[in-house]
Formats: sequence, structure tokens, C-alpha cells
Amino acid sequence: MRVAVHARARGMGALRQEPADLRRNAAWIAHGGGDGLTAWHRRGTGSEGSPIISFEQVIKVYPPRTLALADISLEIAQGEFVFLIGASGAGKSTMIRLLYREEKPSAGRLLINGKDIGRLRRREVPFLRRRIGVVFQDFKLLEHKTVYDNVAFPLICTEARPREIARRVPQVLEAVGLSSKARSRATELSGGEQQRCAIARAVVGDPEILIADEPTGNLDSDTARGIINLLVEINRRGTTVLVATHSESLVNTLRRRVIALDHGRVVRDEERGLYRREAL
Ligand SMILES: Nc1ncnc2c1ncn2[C@@H]1O[C@H](COP(=O)(O)OP(=O)(O)O)[C@@H](O)[C@H]1O
Ligand SMILES: [Mg+2]
Repeated sequence: MRVAVHARARGMGALRQEPADLRRNAAWIAHGGGDGLTAWHRRGTGSEGSPIISFEQVIKVYPPRTLALADISLEIAQGEFVFLIGASGAGKSTMIRLLYREEKPSAGRLLINGKDIGRLRRREVPFLRRRIGVVFQDFKLLEHKTVYDNVAFPLICTEARPREIARRVPQVLEAVGLSSKARSRATELSGGEQQRCAIARAVVGDPEILIADEPTGNLDSDTARGIINLLVEINRRGTTVLVATHSESLVNTLRRRVIALDHGRVVRDEERGLYRREAL
């Protein structure tokens, strides 16, 4: 596999000693890394307003017969900040897995910048993933590596030039407020710091879209607020952000677009929405 070859070629063979789940994380991160080494800057406003993501009658069935998404049609414009809410099992993670092509739609089309990603060839998938940063509830950091190395990892995997890495990693660590922890191991960080590290890793390649699947699920409410503020700041700089969450208070305070799912269907889609229990 291409990732493994790169990891070994780059002297990352030590990863083979990591537990299996960490190795899987490493493989995912490697595929999700960035090559768009432009500065941490606000994007141009040229194409804002056109859909960057379109779900067109998307259905997802997990074998044998779990209907996880039943006919989802919606558009997300470039530069939007969107909350995806809904009870456990509503289909939030499935929508996210389709976006980074962990899963394919069973029917319908999912377009990113007009391209049907359900039909991508296997070798095209890493290019998609370089344009999408993903953050998970459980962080998925390489625990025994430093903060710096965790954030540099996607760049190393995409064979960025050392000079670029040395420029970009401190810039992103600064943006998430982790400069002073660059040499700490991931295990030495608090939950909030681990999540900021994961966000830094997700945006180091300057993705067009940042997706977070319950990024505050394991954090106390103040720390959660800090994480969401960071995502809002990333959005303010021009990245389209999609956040799946259970947090009523975050959704209610921010008043951003809310897409509510229930049993795989969109039951509400509001511009400046509130979290309502009846939607769940
Ligand atoms: N890999 C899978 N295989 C089979 N069923 C799955 C799988 N992943 C999720 N599901 C089912 O799909 C539905 C939607 O799940 P999910 O997208 O994880 O919801 P959420 O993230 O909103 O909790 C649930 O019924 C869940 O049990
Ligand atoms: Mg989920």
C-alpha cells in the first residue's frame, strides 16, 4: 500500500511497533495529509456561495439491512459553518464517512466541488482526503509521538519539503495555541489540548473542508467551548466547517446553520438554528 511504502521510505518504520489501532490511524492520517502548502490565511472570496458539498438523494444501507441514510439531499456552500445534530444512530457519522470516502453511497450522488466522490477510483481517494481535514471525538493521535510530530505527520506522508514542514507546523501550532507544547508527547496533554493538536493536524495541509465528528464529546463544557471557538476561527479564515455534535448549548449559543437528522433523514435545516429536542 502506498502509505506503508511512504512511511517506511521516510523512516517511519517505528509505526509498525504501535498497536494495531494506532497503525490504522497512521494510515488514515497519511491518506488525509495535505499537500496544499499555502499559508494559514483567509481564502479568497472568489467562489464563496457556490456549493462545495452536494448530497443528491443519497441512500446508505449497511448490510444486511440497516438503512443509515434515507434519501439525503442538501447543499453546503463554500465558507459555511454547519452543525449536524441528531440522536445517536441518526446517521451523522455515516454522512461524515461518505464525505471522506470511508464509505460509498448505496444510491444517489455525493458531489464535492461538482465531482461525484462515490465514483472516485481508489488511487484518487488520497487526493480527495488532502482537501478534507477530519477530527474525531477520540482524537486519534499517535500517542507516543510529540505534538510537533503528530502535526507534521500528514506533511511527511505527502512528501512535503522539510523547509515547508518547518515553516508550516509552528504556524499551525501557534494558531491552535499549542506552541509551548510542541515537544510534549500526546499522552502528556489534557483532553482539550489533544483535541487542539488533532485540529492542527487536520488543518496543516490547508484543507478546503474541515469535518469534526463529535469533537467535544469527551470534553468538559468550557473546554468544548474553546474547541468550537477554534473551529469558528478556522471557518472565519475561509474553510468550510461541518461539525456533528450532541451539545445543545454550543448549537444554541452559536446560532449557525443546523441540519438535524433523525433515522437517516433530514428533519430540519435552518440557517440560524437552535437545538430542539423534538428534532431528536
Ligand atoms: N459499519 C456499520 N455497519 C453496520 N451498521 C452501521 C455501521 N455504522 C453505523 N451503522 C448503523 O447506521 C446507523 C447510523 O449510524 P451512525 O451514522 O453511526 O449514527 P450517529 O453518528 O448519528 O450516531 C445506526 O443504526 C448504526 O447502528
Ligand atoms: Mg456518530
